[in-house]
Amino acid sequence: MNNVRASAPGKIILFGEHFVVRGNHAIAGSIGLRAYVSSREKRDWPLIIESRNLGMQARVYLDKGKLKAKTGHIEVFRPFIQILERLRETGKIQPAIITIDSEIPVSAGLGSSAASAAAFTASYGRLLGFTITREFLLEMSYEAERVVHGKPSGIDNTIVVEGGVILYSREEGYQRISVDMNNGRLIIADTGVRRRTGDVVLDVLELYDRHERVFDAIYRAAEEVVRESIPALERGELDVIGELMNVNQGLLYSIGVSNERIEKLLHVARNEGALGAKLTGAGRGGSIIALATDENAGRIKSRLLENAPWSGIGEFGVEGVKIEED
Ligand code: MEV
Repeated sequence: MNNVRASAPGKIILFGEHFVVRGNHAIAGSIGLRAYVSSREKRDWPLIIESRNLGMQARVYLDKGKLKAKTGHIEVFRPFIQILERLRETGKIQPAIITIDSEIPVSAGLGSSAASAAAFTASYGRLLGFTITREFLLEMSYEAERVVHGKPSGIDNTIVVEGGVILYSREEGYQRISVDMNNGRLIIADTGVRRRTGDVVLDVLELYDRHERVFDAIYRAAEEVVRESIPALERGELDVIGELMNVNQGLLYSIGVSNERIEKLLHVARNEGALGAKLTGAGRGGSIIALATDENAGRIKSRLLENAPWSGIGEFGVEGVKIEED
């Protein structure tokens, strides 16, 4: 029986999260933690989706041409069921056992939902005999992101599909940036605080509507941060990148998405010699990133670990979605 295994990387947003939702540019990079999805043919319905990390599963039945899911954890599986729904419209859907196994911490702002959705599409889509194009992966993983939060900019699913480092905007799509990390290292730390991206995004949009002129100015500043960061990233000017990360964090603070746990980790990182540090992703929890020289990175990571459940020195700009085994 056929078995297809695919994977997709997690991501960090280097500059411009939230601002990107209203059309600004942002910069994202893939990281060395991956979500793996295996799809194995099965003779009869139900189709089974299981999450190894969460120890949960959903059983999906095809009943009179419609998909019906049985699971005690509908929220967890809804994005995947949405992908199945789209595939059902093509008439090609078949039963299978689909297993999700991810190295990416969940709800930590590191793209676990987008990566699982992209790897799910690649793995199960291939099992069904679809040609796995970038367009197909982007479309399906965007559908899944829309279920997770109502107004995704598209940056999360784009970076996990494409990999590398990208400049992204809703209107222009993405363009690759070649980053010279020089002797710089990115340290990631998880606050351990879980939150829903959609809720934070909606709060920011509401605050924008209440203070439009002030927020316009903040959004313009955020766009400048991204613009100035591009040559600095290309030339490996770590001091400039770090300064701009700190400025970006100030802007994120002003739109209400930082919190005490985040600020604590940022101060720990900066006090230990980080060149810059900011939250990454939706904020109000999730993860932070800190930029440091190679010599300082290990020490900063150790200090962060005294205050965070998880921290790692990120491999950065890795390959996007790939079929591992076919
Ligand atoms: C989440 O990783 C990034 C946000 O900007 C939301 C989005 O762009 O869809 C907060």
